[in-house]
Amino acid sequence: MPEDGSKPLVLIVDDNPTNLDVLVGALRKSYRLGIAKDGNKAIEFADTNQPDVILLDIMMPGMNGYDVCGELKQSERTRDIPVIFITALSAPEEKIRGFEAGGVDFITKPFYTPEVLARVNTHVSLKKLNESLGHQNIILEETVRKKTAALEEMLGATIETMALAVEIRDPYTAGHQERVAILACAIAKKMGLSGTQVNTIRFAGILHDIGKIRIPEAIINRPGKLLPLEREMIKIHPQIGYDLLKNIPFPWPIAEIVLQHHEKLDGSGYPRGLKGEAILKEARILTVADVTEAESSHRPYRPTRGIDSALREILSHRGTLYDTDAVNACRELFTKENFHFGDHSGLPGF
Ligand SMILES: [Fe+2]
Ligand SMILES: [Fe+2]
Repeated sequence: MPEDGSKPLVLIVDDNPTNLDVLVGALRKSYRLGIAKDGNKAIEFADTNQPDVILLDIMMPGMNGYDVCGELKQSERTRDIPVIFITALSAPEEKIRGFEAGGVDFITKPFYTPEVLARVNTHVSLKKLNESLGHQNIILEETVRKKTAALEEMLGATIETMALAVEIRDPYTAGHQERVAILACAIAKKMGLSGTQVNTIRFAGILHDIGKIRIPEAIINRPGKLLPLEREMIKIHPQIGYDLLKNIPFPWPIAEIVLQHHEKLDGSGYPRGLKGEAILKEARILTVADVTEAESSHRPYRPTRGIDSALREILSHRGTLYDTDAVNACRELFTKENFHFGDHSGLPGF
C-alpha cells in the first residue's frame, strides 16, 4: 500500500511470541514491521530489506543478540542501521557489552510500550537526519568539485593566454614556453617530485619568459648575434616576469621560479647570482628544460642545432651550471624513452 510504503521499516527480533505480539501492537500504527525469530533470519532480513531500526532481543537460541549486532556492524550494507537491545538482562555490564557490540540504546523487559515507541521514534528520526546530512554533504562536495574544476580551467586558460601575449611578438620562439613546460614536467616526474610540484613547474614553465614582453621586438627578432648591450637588456626578463607575477596569489612559488630560471649552480647566472641549493629545485629543473629546448631549436641568430647538441651542452656542465639529477633525467628521457616535445603525456591534468 502506498501509505505503508512511505512508513519507516522496523525489524523486531525476538524468539518469544508474547513479546513479539506486544511489540507489534506498540509499533504497527506508525511503522512497517519485519519479524525474525532468530539471529540468522534477522541478519538475512536486515541485509535484504535495510530496516530503519532493529529491536533486538539478546537471549535467543542459536546466535545471541550481541553476536547478531556484531555481525550487522561488520557489513557495509547493515552497519548504519541503529540497533536497540530489548532484554530481560539489566546488569550494567550487560548494557556495556551491548553498547560495545554497536547498539545505540537499551530497553529492559518488562517494557512499557509508550517508551518503546518513543525510543524507536527517536532513533528513526536520528537515522533520517544522518541520511539527509550525508546526502547534503555529497551534493556540497560535488558542487565544490565542479566549481574548483571550473576555476582551474579558467586559471589554465588565463595562463596560456598570458604566455601567448609574449610569444605573439616573437614568432621565432613561438611555442617555446609550452615545450619547456612539457619537458620540465617530464623531468620533474622522472625525478619523483610531487604532483603539486609538477603542476607548479608546468605553470612556471608556460610563463617563464613572460618578462620578454618589455624587450623591444627589434632586439628579440633581430637576426645575427646580439650585441653586449642587447644581451644585457634581455637579461632583465626574469625580473620583469617576477614583477608581473608576484602579486597574483598563486598557492605556489611561480613568480620566484620565473625569477630564478637563468640562475646557474656556480653563481654565474642572473639576476641574483644564486648558487647551488639557494636556487629552488623547480627552477633548476626549468633551467635544464629551457636550455635543452632553446639549444635544440632554431633561433634568428643561428641555425637549428638539434637535440644531440643540446644534450652535449647540458651534460658538459652537469653539476657545475646545471642540476645533476635534472640533467640525468633529461638525458634519459631523450635517449631511453624517446621523448618528444609534442608528447603531452608528461603533463598532469588540472
Ligand atoms: Fe628566459
Ligand atoms: Fe626560455
